[in-house]
Order: sequence, then C-alpha cells, then structure tokens
Amino acid sequence: MSRKFEKLLEPGYIGQVQTRNRIVKTGAGTFMWHEDETSMNNKVLAFYESLARGGVGLLIVESPTIDYPAGVRWRRRYRIDDDKYIKGLSELTDVIHRHGCPTFMQMNHDGPWQSKLGFEPDPPFKGPPIASSPTTLNSPGDFHNETPRELTVEEIESIIDKFASAAVRARKAGFDGVDINAASTHLLHNFLSPFWNKREDIYGGSRENRARFVVSIVQEIKNRTGGDFPVSVCINGMEIGQAAGVDNAKCLTPEEARGIARLLQDAGADMIQVRSIWLGYHVGGYLTDVFFYPEPPVPVESMPAEYYSKDRGAGANMNFAEGIKYSVSIPVMTVSKISPELGEKMLRERKVDFIGMTRMLQADPELPNKLITGREEDIAPCTACEDCLGSQRCRINAFMGKEYNVIQKAGQRKKVMVVGGGPAGMEAARIAALRGHDVKLYEKEKRLGGLLPVAAVVKGTNLENIPDIVTYLERQITRLGVEINPGKEVDLPLIELIKPDAIILATGGIPVMPDIPGIENKKVVSTSDLQKTLRSFMKLLGTGTLRKLTKLYLPVGKKIVIIGSGLQGCELAEFFVRHGRQVTLVDQAENPGSDMVDALFGYLSAWLEKKDVVFFNGVREYSKITKDGLIIVDKNGKELLIEADNIISALPLAPDTRLLPKLKGMVPEVYAVGDCKEPMLIVDAISSGMTTAREV
Ligand SMILES: Cc1cc2nc3c(=O)[nH]c(=O)nc-3n(C[C@H](O)[C@H](O)[C@H](O)COP(=O)(O)O)c2cc1C
Ligand code: SF4
Repeated sequence: MSRKFEKLLEPGYIGQVQTRNRIVKTGAGTFMWHEDETSMNNKVLAFYESLARGGVGLLIVESPTIDYPAGVRWRRRYRIDDDKYIKGLSELTDVIHRHGCPTFMQMNHDGPWQSKLGFEPDPPFKGPPIASSPTTLNSPGDFHNETPRELTVEEIESIIDKFASAAVRARKAGFDGVDINAASTHLLHNFLSPFWNKREDIYGGSRENRARFVVSIVQEIKNRTGGDFPVSVCINGMEIGQAAGVDNAKCLTPEEARGIARLLQDAGADMIQVRSIWLGYHVGGYLTDVFFYPEPPVPVESMPAEYYSKDRGAGANMNFAEGIKYSVSIPVMTVSKISPELGEKMLRERKVDFIGMTRMLQADPELPNKLITGREEDIAPCTACEDCLGSQRCRINAFMGKEYNVIQKAGQRKKVMVVGGGPAGMEAARIAALRGHDVKLYEKEKRLGGLLPVAAVVKGTNLENIPDIVTYLERQITRLGVEINPGKEVDLPLIELIKPDAIILATGGIPVMPDIPGIENKKVVSTSDLQKTLRSFMKLLGTGTLRKLTKLYLPVGKKIVIIGSGLQGCELAEFFVRHGRQVTLVDQAENPGSDMVDALFGYLSAWLEKKDVVFFNGVREYSKITKDGLIIVDKNGKELLIEADNIISALPLAPDTRLLPKLKGMVPEVYAVGDCKEPMLIVDAISSGMTTAREV
C-alpha cells in the first residue's frame, strides 16, 4: 500500500465502530428519495452502494426527516418519524454493509428556515418556521427571510424525544451510529449561536444553556441505545457575522465552539465534526470554495485569523478543527474541499483524526480504493461546478442518480467509431471501451476537449477546474486502449474504409447568430470567431498562459454588449468585467442566469451588479445594429440604443445533425451524443456519452 497516504488509509475508531480508513463521506442531501417512500428506490441504493464499494472508511447517509413536517422544507427526503420507515432504511444499510463499510445516519432539523424555498413548489411545512428566538436575517443568500416562532420548553423536549426516537429507529435499521447536524443554520445551531438565540430561559443565555438542547439530545440517544451506539455531532467551529454586517464577537466564536465541544464530549458524544458558517451565506458556508466565488464578499485580509483563507476555501475549517481537537479527547473531523494530499497532511500534523469529504467522493466513489492501489491519476476529478446541488447528478460521475452503478461487458465486441473528442465523445469512448469494444476516436482539432479548453480560458480555474476533465478523460481512454486520432476530420470515405459496427457522433453544436438587421457589422463578434481565435493561440499556449495573456490584450473595445444572459453570457460578462470592460447583457428571456446553479448565479449576479453590469431581460425586439451599438425595444416597449464597441452573441448552440442522415444505412448503429444532439451543459454532455455508449 502507498505510504503517501499512510495516515489517511489507516483504520480508526469512532466509539466502538472501526472505520476502514480516515476518509468519511459526510451527509449530503441527494434529492433521490421522497417523503412518500417506505422502501429504498434503486437510485438511492445504487448511489450509496457505489460509495461503500469504493472503499470509504465510514459512510454517513443523508438525513431523513425526524420531525415531519416542521423539520423539513422539501418533499424529496425520506422520513424516519415512524417505525414504518425502518424497513426501507434497513435495505440501504444491508447494501452498504455487504461491502464491509460502516454507516451512520445523519439527523437534522430545518427549524428556522423559511417555509418556502425557491426550488420547492409545494413545501410540506407551511410555517411559520420555529427557532430559539424570533431573530431574522434579511439576506437573499440565506434561508431566514421569515420571522420564526420561538419554541416552547415543551416543544423543545418533544424534539429531543424525536431525535432520540429516530436514533433508536436508525439502530434498528442497521446503522452503526448517528451524526447530529448542529452546524450550518439548522435548528440546533440556532440554539448554540448567541446571534440567533436570545432566550432568557434554561435554553438561552450562558453557553451551557444554549448547548442544553443538543446536549440533551446526545444524552437521550445514549440513554435509549444503551450507551454503545456512537453519536457524532457536527458543529460550526465559528459563525462569522462580518459579511452580513454583524460583529463576529456577537456570533458563535471559536472559543465558544471549543467550549461547546467539551460539553458534547461530557454528554457522551463520540466524535465532533467541525465546519463553519458565514451569516447570510448559506451555501458558501458549507461549500467553502463557493464563498470565494466570484470574489469573497469581504476582503480576504479582513477574514478571521482562524479561518484558513489562503486557498479559496480549500481546508477553510482546519484551524477551527485543530482548536477543538486540543480541547477534547474524542476524535475530531473536518470538511471543506479537502484533497487526499491535504487530508494526509492534516492528519500527519495531528490537526484532526478524520477527513470528511462529499464532492470528491461523489465525483469518484472509487477514490479510496484508487488511493489504496496507487491509482491516484485515475481519480475522476471533482471540478467544483456545484451541479450536484439539488439535482441528483454529478458532472463527471454520470452514474450518480442512475439506477445502476456498473458497466456490463457487451455480449459482442464491436468496432466503434467516435467522431469528436469533446466531453461527450471522450466519455462515450471510455464507456464503449469498458464494454469491451474496439474503439477509435477522431477529433478534427489537434487536441482533445472540444470547447472545454476555450471555456477554461473564459471561466479561469479559480472555482471550476475544467482542464482537469480533459486530462482525466484523455488518460482514461488512452489506458483503455482507445485509438485516438487527433487532427483528423471524419468524412464518408474514411467511414467506408473503417466500416464500423457503430458510430457515435459527438461533433458539437453550431454557434447561433441572432437575426438582427446590421448583424454583419464589424463590431459584432461571433462566438465561433472567438473560439477560432482562442484555438489558434492554444496551438502555442496552454489555457492558463492564454488566460493570463488576455489580461494584456483582448481584441475588443471598452463597451461590450452580450446577447444572451444565460450561463455563457453571465460567464462572459464576468470575464470581460475582470478585463476592465463595461458590460451590458440583453436577452429576450424574462430572467437571467438560466442553466446556472442557483447559488452560483446568486453570488455572481450580486458581484456583476456591484461592477455596474446592466441586464436588459424580457427584450421585445432587437431592432438594429448601428455604428453606435445595439438598438432594442425593452420589456416596457421603449426603444433605446445601448452603446457598444463590440456586440457578442452568447446564445445557446444549435444541434448539428448534418452528418446523421448520410450515415443511415451505411453504418448498422448510428448515435449522436452531447451538443450535436442537444446542446446543454458539460454535465449533460458527459451523461449522454455514458448512457448512449452503455447501450452500444
Ligand atoms: C449536494 C450537496 C448536498 C449537501 N447536503 C448536506 C446535508 O444534507 N447535510 C449536511 O450536513 N451537509 C450537506 N452538504 C455538505 C457536505 O456534507 C460537506 O460538508 C460539503 O460538501 C463540503 O465538503 P466537500 O468540500 O468535500 O464537498 C451537502 C453538500 C453537497 C455538495
Ligand atoms: S464535479 Fe460538480 S457535480 Fe460532481 S461532485 Fe463535484 S461539484 Fe458536484
């Protein structure tokens, strides 16, 4: 076994439960189950099985609802508030245990969250929310825009009972322990925090009083389960108020968190998991890298010293965790975009005892096994796109959210030709090769990746690391023996020569130019022109260098108008603002940000607004392009000129099906994947590559 990850791969103990190594899959809602279910559906089973099989040390299953409906804000969550739900969960623990993996069940309570969240049209709980006190925080990036009702002591006692009853059911269902979520901005944190908790009874005021709720839950679970059933508790190592204009000293300080950890240990907790939360920034609190997107809302220099801010959120909570580790004798774990290398370093430096991960394991459930067998280079990269938020899917792991998790060998080995080396084509080639086919991939450009390298120049690599996708897929298909033919355009004679049994077209989409009088004006830059220019430079330079060079020179003027305010338009706007341009986005769509992850669009649009970017949505007509700019009829019917030195179309691509009809009758099996079939996102391209090649 590799010594490089010696500490990370060492077994550990949480209470009496032995973990296979120090990597823990933390609880994360996948939206794959539903409140009406009483048995496990195949998507849930396939997803958790892949994690268990992949070698993770301990698998914490996402929280079912312990208090229905007050404890939950959406319907895509299993329940555990009645014995009838035990059977379903035991189906899940059976599958996980079959792979020798211990498993805990997470428990949380959404208490103070507003009753209606944007993504749930029919919330099960009608409100008002419940909390320690009626404290609110008016922030669009948070879930506290509705005044909560203060819980009575009797209600608190009833919720303690519900947590303990759920833990008893979890044990009956075969879980090896439970994980209480008292972090983020859920109900239990709401009691721990002096910012939220203004009570004057035994549940408010002093540290002991604020911690009484969660301490009582731990004690009650221990009482009812005989004491040998491990309980881990996830807390915020700090609640940081400054980004919401609140003095950090008025929130949960690191010193308070250390004291609370000691109280939890005294109550019988077997492990403390440490996170942190920025008031007003729900997602940026638990996905620490997102807090830095596109720029952190407060200067890095002003962030609290204990918040590790040097690597854009990676390892952000490690100092809080270290402080807690030296205050308790039970194991301590932390999370925050921790790579295996960083995890190993933290373990060696004795900052923590366990490393929590979610996204890297979603991206590649086999990550632990690959570390064990020295195949680090084969790990599918999590590129921090955040596409997994509430969507049941992962950009790079197309199996997430599917009812299966393995690739079967094909009954018959076929000659498969893949045309196009973008993400869809490369994934299709990878899967076809895994099925045992003889695969040849053709790409007309000199390098693989399709539009990905171009996208990387525009997006940069601060949040998403797109070039990693190309490196990973190229390496995989090379190892699988796919014949890669770069710089080779496929035509009919070549197809006749190869005589494939199956052809998979992955030739990409066609850029769309809007039909506007004056579109031929020189100031209009088409995305295909832009792509061609970038590609020609890429023959000589890497994406990173090219992005740096764009700081020195860009062939566009000062005032830019972008047509299209979806994902591409918004990302182009960010790029041009960073290059000192004045940007206006226009779109006939009513709302900007389509195709963007809600949270990312929220953070990006706030930043763009700060940078004086103007959005014109609901445009009725693009009237004309003149030497001065673009004339539109806005949503109120008013004609106006938007001055522009350059106008760029960022409308979604159109499908490119030109080759398809010519191939019918010529090749027995013809498929189209990715943008050439239906232009969408990278996650869709990879998914269509996988699902199609699986059928070949
Ligand atoms: C899609 C998604 C859903 C999540 N849901 C939960 C949740 O229900 N409970 C929880 O405690 N944390 C949740 N998290 C946070 C993760 O447990 C973890 O703390 C976070 O992803 C940071 O770890 P990572 O950088 O390794 O992904 C979620 C994270 C993701 C990406
Ligand atoms: S690659 Fe994207 S979708 Fe997959 S786990 Fe990472 S952030 Fe989530």
